[in-house]
Amino acid sequence: MIKKDKWEAVDAYFDDKLHISDETTKSILDKNDAEGLPSIEVASPHGKMLYMLAKMRNAKTILEIGTHGGYSTIWLARALQKGGRMATFEADQKHARVAEENIAAAGYAGEVEVFEGNALDILPKLKKRDYKGFDFIFIDANKDNYPEYLEWAIEFSKPGAVIVADNVVRDGRIIDGETEEKQVPYLRKFIDIISEDERIEATAIQTVGSKGYDGFLLAMVR
Ligand code: DHB
Ligand code: MG
Repeated sequence: MIKKDKWEAVDAYFDDKLHISDETTKSILDKNDAEGLPSIEVASPHGKMLYMLAKMRNAKTILEIGTHGGYSTIWLARALQKGGRMATFEADQKHARVAEENIAAAGYAGEVEVFEGNALDILPKLKKRDYKGFDFIFIDANKDNYPEYLEWAIEFSKPGAVIVADNVVRDGRIIDGETEEKQVPYLRKFIDIISEDERIEATAIQTVGSKGYDGFLLAMVR
C-alpha cells in the first residue's frame, strides 16, 4: 500500500468506527461533486474535529472565512449553542449558491448566514450587521489573504476565542522558502505575524489522510 492509500484507509476506518459521516454530510459531498466544485473540503475526521472544538468552546457565535460548498459550515453549525448563529463568507458565486442549498437542506438556514463576495470587503461592515464578536473562527479561504483574515479574526474575537486555519503545511512546503507554490509566501507571512503577535497563543498540527499531507493552525485569543 502506498502511503496515501494507507492514510485514506485509516480515515475510512475511523470514519466508520467513530460514526463520523452521516447522510447529511455525505449528501453535501455528493452535491458538491455533482456541481463540479473542487474536492478541497476538509476530511470527515477533520470536519468532526472542527465540530468538537467549537462545541468544547461552547460557541454561540461562529465565523467561517471560505464557505466552499458548506461542508465544514455544517460541521460547525452543528456545534452552535442553542440560539447561536454563524456567518460564513464565500467569494465564488456558484460555491455560495451550492452552499446555501446544502445549508438549507441540512436544516441550518435559520442559523447560518452566507455572505457572498470578498470577505475583506464585507468584514468591515459586519459590526453594523449585529455581529459583535465570535467564539470560534475558521479560516479556509484564499491563502493570499490569510494575513488580513487573521487581523479581522482577532478584531472580531471574544476573549478566549479559538481560531483555526486550514492548509498551513501544504505537503511540507510551508518551510520551503523557494517553493513554486504561490500561496506559500502568504502562509509564511501569516505564521510570521502569529509568531510576533502577543494577543494570541498558537500551535500547529500536521495531518495526513484522504486530503494528503497538510495541517491546521490552532490559536487562542488571550
Ligand atoms: C486546497 C485545499 C484546501 O483545503 C483549500 O482550502 C484550498 C486548496 C488544495 O489542495 O489545493
Ligand atoms: Mg482548506
